[in-house]
Amino acid sequence: MDKTTVLILFGGRSSEHEISLRSAATILSNIDCDKYTVVKIGITREGHWLLTCADAETIKSGAWESLPDNRTAFLPPDPKAGGVFVLNGDGTYELVKIDIAFPVLHGMHGEDGTVQGLFELADVPYVGCSVTASAVCMDKVCTKMMLADVEVNQAKWIHFTYREMKLAFKACLDHAEQKLGYPVFVKPASAGSSIGVSRAKDREELSAALKLAMEYDSKVIVEEEIRGRELEVAIIGTKAPFASTCCEIIKGTEVYDYDAKYNNDTAQTFAKARMDMEKADDVRMAALKVYSALGCTGMARADFFYDTENDRIIFNEMNTIPGFTNKSMFPQMMEASWGFSITQQVDMLLEDALEQHKQRGRLKI
Ligand SMILES: Nc1ncnc2c1ncn2[C@@H]1O[C@H](COP(=O)(O)OP(=O)(O)O)[C@@H](O)[C@H]1O
Ligand SMILES: [Mg+2]
Repeated sequence: MDKTTVLILFGGRSSEHEISLRSAATILSNIDCDKYTVVKIGITREGHWLLTCADAETIKSGAWESLPDNRTAFLPPDPKAGGVFVLNGDGTYELVKIDIAFPVLHGMHGEDGTVQGLFELADVPYVGCSVTASAVCMDKVCTKMMLADVEVNQAKWIHFTYREMKLAFKACLDHAEQKLGYPVFVKPASAGSSIGVSRAKDREELSAALKLAMEYDSKVIVEEEIRGRELEVAIIGTKAPFASTCCEIIKGTEVYDYDAKYNNDTAQTFAKARMDMEKADDVRMAALKVYSALGCTGMARADFFYDTENDRIIFNEMNTIPGFTNKSMFPQMMEASWGFSITQQVDMLLEDALEQHKQRGRLKI
């Protein structure tokens, strides 16, 4: 049987570039090589696309970028091309056929619908959410607005644009204080991995938090603080999505921050949350409801808070390309709940990409 060629796209022009390298390393170490031929393209922090032969470890360390055999590559938006063009040193080029693309990219220019748009134009099947769902889930303000009529608890929130803050910063502070009080969480609308996120317990901290978040996005969201545990649910599928049971994160710091997520052990994680089955099932059902309301397909990770004091489940955010690092919860949850190995999870995601492409092909243009 002919093998299916999979393009693994990693790196990217994003503050989560390094996480992407680690996710790609996990996927490359686990993809079924009897079934799939892998083509690797790394995107540098500057946005340069390079076809590379680097192995998983070399990608993870970042050393892949300086390999002498890397060649410039690009995906033309023309569906007739059927793959990526790779430039040779002598000015000639060759075509590498692609059957499925797997964007293992987190954050901007990867998880936000941009690269998905390129795959749509090129008519290449791709893993995960469509352009619209990716864009909506990348933006925490859009996500909340999309869910306005959906029965799911959310933290009280407001948002400010860069323009509003530039014109009337003091009024923004007043408004946040009146509507939410303290403490609050301040976050860039479109970021990830806790970058630019801070907790503010007074006006001075709020002012600093808004300025920090503004460095990452021109839209900033301010939320009431939810105290309690953090829960996450992994979902795979399009026609009949299925969810893992939720995992639990006990953060050792006020923010489950970048280092706690990827670099140290301040947070304690449990691949299956320590809560009664009925409650855990409520979280799973809420995750599937939000997944569907946001138009997610392929995969996503839904994050919640469990306000233990008031026994409330509160939806926080949807991640359309969740981390696949060796510390990430998505693959661990799928394994703990359903017994699927990472190899099987990758296989399901690739099969789903083909199915999604087939469905789109039925639509009239
Ligand atoms: N409203 C909130 N109440 C309590 N903690 C919060 C709140 N919002 C965010 N946090 C903390 O900040 C972390 C990062 O925020 P999150 O909304 O998940 O953004 P990101 O996309 O960066 O992961 C969360 O995991 C949590 O620890
Ligand atoms: Mg988060």
